Amino acid sequence: MAPKEPTNGGKDKRVTRYTYDKVMEPRTPETGHTALLPADEQVVTVPMDNGWSKAIKVGQLPAGEQRPVVVDMDPAADPIFFWAGKRNRREVPLLPLQRNEIVSESRIAQIIGRARKAAMEKAPQMTFGSIFADLEKTFRESDKSKRVEFYTHDEGWKNKLICGDSLHVMESLLHFEELRGKVQMMFLDPPYGIRYDSNFQQRVDSIKNDDKDQADDVLTIKAFRDTWTLGIHSYLSYLQERLYLCRELLNDSGSIFIQISDDNVHRVRCLMDEIFGADNFIALIPFRKKTMPFGTTFIEQMADFLIWYGKRKFTDTGTPSTKFYPLFLSQDVEGEFHHCWYEMPDGNRQRMTPEQLNNHSLLPKGARVYRLKSLEPSGPMESGMFIYTLAGKRYPPPKNGYGTPPEGMDRLRDHKRLQPEGNRLTFIMYADENVWTRMTAPWTDTVGADNKRYVVQTNSEVIQRCVLMTTDPGDIVFDPTCGSGTTAYVAEAWGRRWVTCDTSRVALNVARKNLLSSTFDHFKTRNGAVASGFIYKKVKRITLGSLANNLEPGEIELRDQPETDKSTIRVCGAFEVMSLGRYSVEDWKGYVATPQAEGIESPKLENYIGVICRLYRKDAAVQGASGLVHAVAESEEEKIAISVGPLSGRVTAKQIDDAVKDALASGILETHVLGWAFESNVNEVKAQLEKRGKVKVELIMIRPDTLAEGLKITKPETLFSPLALPDIEIKTKKNGAEPKAVVRLKGVAVFDRKNRTTDYKRADSGYVSAWYLDEDYDGDCFVDCQMFFDFKKAPNIKALGLDVEPDQFTLHTESQPFLVRAYKRVAVKVVDVFGNESTIVREL
Ligand SMILES: C[S@@+](CC[C@H](N)C(=O)[O-])C[C@H]1O[C@@H](n2cnc3c(N)ncnc32)[C@H](O)[C@@H]1O
Repeated sequence: MAPKEPTNGGKDKRVTRYTYDKVMEPRTPETGHTALLPADEQVVTVPMDNGWSKAIKVGQLPAGEQRPVVVDMDPAADPIFFWAGKRNRREVPLLPLQRNEIVSESRIAQIIGRARKAAMEKAPQMTFGSIFADLEKTFRESDKSKRVEFYTHDEGWKNKLICGDSLHVMESLLHFEELRGKVQMMFLDPPYGIRYDSNFQQRVDSIKNDDKDQADDVLTIKAFRDTWTLGIHSYLSYLQERLYLCRELLNDSGSIFIQISDDNVHRVRCLMDEIFGADNFIALIPFRKKTMPFGTTFIEQMADFLIWYGKRKFTDTGTPSTKFYPLFLSQDVEGEFHHCWYEMPDGNRQRMTPEQLNNHSLLPKGARVYRLKSLEPSGPMESGMFIYTLAGKRYPPPKNGYGTPPEGMDRLRDHKRLQPEGNRLTFIMYADENVWTRMTAPWTDTVGADNKRYVVQTNSEVIQRCVLMTTDPGDIVFDPTCGSGTTAYVAEAWGRRWVTCDTSRVALNVARKNLLSSTFDHFKTRNGAVASGFIYKKVKRITLGSLANNLEPGEIELRDQPETDKSTIRVCGAFEVMSLGRYSVEDWKGYVATPQAEGIESPKLENYIGVICRLYRKDAAVQGASGLVHAVAESEEEKIAISVGPLSGRVTAKQIDDAVKDALASGILETHVLGWAFESNVNEVKAQLEKRGKVKVELIMIRPDTLAEGLKITKPETLFSPLALPDIEIKTKKNGAEPKAVVRLKGVAVFDRKNRTTDYKRADSGYVSAWYLDEDYDGDCFVDCQMFFDFKKAPNIKALGLDVEPDQFTLHTESQPFLVRAYKRVAVKVVDVFGNESTIVREL
């Protein structure tokens, strides 16, 4: 579906459009159209060898080695890091990304327009049920002309929230999205490789992990079970294969940061040396992650670590090639022992008392704090070997000489910047002229994430520093370990493009909710395009060099202080929610779907499908031939064709259609399509098929924990249930020529793990985490028009100091009235507290 033009939904609203050069054409198929790729495109080999495998035979290079060695290791000299199962190549299936949902610019503009209109019209107690209720309230209470904006990107680019394993997602980004060499910065916060269940989060609305809420997210369970079978060895293989792909995605001037704890920091650093090259190591940044020690037997580690590498730190000629902007922190010199002098307005200078040093309020009024700095250069300087006379006293040069020639010393004297200390001369540096000091490592001023949405959430300040040091507005930032979406949030806040992925649907729903419920500062751009950059605050820095050489004071740019448009509130820009197509078969115990030769059954493909079919019907006869009827169950009364959907993807309308056609070709009238998730329009397709012919179609949900329990299920029939869709009610009203509709969410089916039943829960029962309404569903891509959240806790908007009634954070079950438009069709998507989604489509 082509993106629609933004509409000017509000009277004063100005929706700007920023464009980017060289935005690529994505080859993203729409949902339901994931045709199989040609066989030779199905699997790619990822080379994971920078020369180390040659070292196995020291000094002997394999004859006919063809693959270029990207980081040249000397097998005889470089130490090599080994673990069980280390490989030098890996086959990865190539899976296209499917676009499941677009939160488009025009839809956001519409919502903003409507929120503003509602704010103008309604009495304060009447509120919107959606996230934009907060905006509406802001409009009502603040200056009426306050604008709401969002940064937009060229038509060809949309930020991406992707469900899937990072290995497959990255391979897909390389091959289908053409992102090779395009990513400017990567932030990875992988599991730390210690407790292999530590980053489970089972509920969207709580960071507690109760046993009763055991993860029911197949992908999450599989990701953990399959990934860590050999413990640390598996962990290193897991990181190795992903890091090779990270390198492919990074721009030559790009940076990669890995967040890790002290348990494995040394191993990951070795791995990075091997993959990125030790020469490209930039820094190891310890950052404080907590303020209170838990109490350990020995010394407690208060920090985690960021390992930072450049793709290519220096060019061949030795000039820095990694993009880098230093950050500056304003220094507080109170209590800092170097700053132990002060000067009075009459020029009188005094050393502070110990009390004054620690408490500047004890200094006399008008006192100017300063420190003394050495005039000696770090290495010997012939030209500085002279005796300098100040106030009639002769001062011999320090060991390395003076760092500035006699004329420079005269200038410093004229500026009254020289002060004797013993028999040496020193330079006077005032604290107020050097408030900003260049940020260094470690970061002792950071804390753990506050207001946690996710159990292993990173403090956004940490990611923000990495983003600001290494990217410009408009650059692409990628995080293959999305979690609660902190990297995407930071990228959005700072006008960077972003891509992020996670295997956990809970994580992705937390991230989605966080993005949509946040507001950001609106930074002014240089020429209207985000990529043109922001206008940063600049401050002067008077230095010894500038005074001695009679130069203008230097200027520094504070990249974390862009000029802000105070009259504007910014919300999240457009993004798309994607998943991997045809992901399932490989995912099933690591088997790769190999193309079937004529007449030969593929045992690997059969395995997954066979297990599911037999769990569904003991008498199912699995069909060896290709086609979408995977098994046939036959008794005296009935003959049923069974088709199984992908493990992580959704059952598409096309699969149902094809399965029914294949069944009919074999003379079978009843088809059961089993799936873990279904596209939103499947019920329509079922109805159309049943209307057209004598066929019967059953859509069957496979219980999310079916495979997680190791297939030892005594009652397999409890694993399957008819597709339970959200229960909605629609009221339409004809108001003159304009028909309007209101949708009410009545309830939703939630799978009860304990009783192994699917229970109907009322919409207000606390099980619905969020629901979304597409007012004019085109039958293909779901677009959020109205969004309703159950904020068990107040969302981030509170942090902005906006006063919002607690009532506004509870779930509203009725939509705002909306116009019935071209497609005369709505879609309602419900996300329950376990992160499961279900969608229903209804004609108006
Ligand atoms: C430590 S958390 C990241 C937390 C994140 N920094 C935040 O601020 O919320 C790691 C995340 O990586 C995800 N993950 C683990 N293995 C993955 C894989 N192979 N592919 C994609 N995501 C994965 C986990 O589901 C988890 O959400």
